[in-house]
Amino acid sequence: MHDIYILGSGAMASLWASYLYPKQTLHFIQRTPSPDGLYRFTIEPQNKEIKGRSLSIQDIDTQIDYLILATKAYDAVDAMNSIKDKLAHNACVLLLQNGLGSQQAIAAGFPSIKLFACSSTEGAYKPNANTLIHAGKGINTIGPMNSVASPADLTGWLPKSHYEWRDDIDFVLWRKFMINCAINPLTVLYNCPNGDLIKHNDYTTHMHHLCEEIDLITKVRFPHINESAFDLAHKTCELTAKNFSSMLQDNRNGNPTEISFMTGYLIEQANTYNIPCPFNEALFNTLSQA
Ligand code: PAF
Repeated sequence: MHDIYILGSGAMASLWASYLYPKQTLHFIQRTPSPDGLYRFTIEPQNKEIKGRSLSIQDIDTQIDYLILATKAYDAVDAMNSIKDKLAHNACVLLLQNGLGSQQAIAAGFPSIKLFACSSTEGAYKPNANTLIHAGKGINTIGPMNSVASPADLTGWLPKSHYEWRDDIDFVLWRKFMINCAINPLTVLYNCPNGDLIKHNDYTTHMHHLCEEIDLITKVRFPHINESAFDLAHKTCELTAKNFSSMLQDNRNGNPTEISFMTGYLIEQANTYNIPCPFNEALFNTLSQA
């Protein structure tokens, strides 16, 4: 049995807790821990109860060897900094953030920590704090974010049945990032479910323009890629036609969005390689001002 700390309270944090429980001892790091010191939720449709300790960062009195960092991308660096004094010098940390940029910033700041990133196609949401709905079965892909992280470091604490290992996680993350850049900001702009982007001609044309720029940047980063952003995004819109993207959900709930870790990071990469991306820049500016 390992002591696994989970920072973040969203659907992905809870989904990983459900994979680990009851084999491992779970510690949920929460801003406001429960008065009884326990956090519990039920995963549906399995109807299984998951429970673990509920504590704040200040309550942690031992060194953490295993951490799952499941905050939003814009909170991830601050969260790592706030917990760094509690981490063993060679701790294993699994990063579950959407988009790109936060994982790279953490890798640059924590060279001795064994850092792993996960890209997931699992579908889950939390209608309330104590219920997790596992809405769609998907795949978790995990790989190393730095040279001290190796697959053997995952043995024992992460269940092999719930992830696939890929040495080239950068590419796996980038492929999902292409899809997110093509879909998420447009669903906010047009305030629509994913499927509408391929139903309305003018939305689809807009997606085409974004994707042409995404492909130019992608070709520089990953010359071997044989898929286009538009084809990937089109397929995703078909498969998730009725879904509201994570960015639209954040926007509708009045929360900050992860646009800086999607379109924002894309623009940074374009600037690094001197590739113009006017459509993505215009979209970023419109949504950042909203
Ligand atoms: O961010 C999301 O909502 C999802 O990753 C995606 C691919 C847009 C599908 O709903």
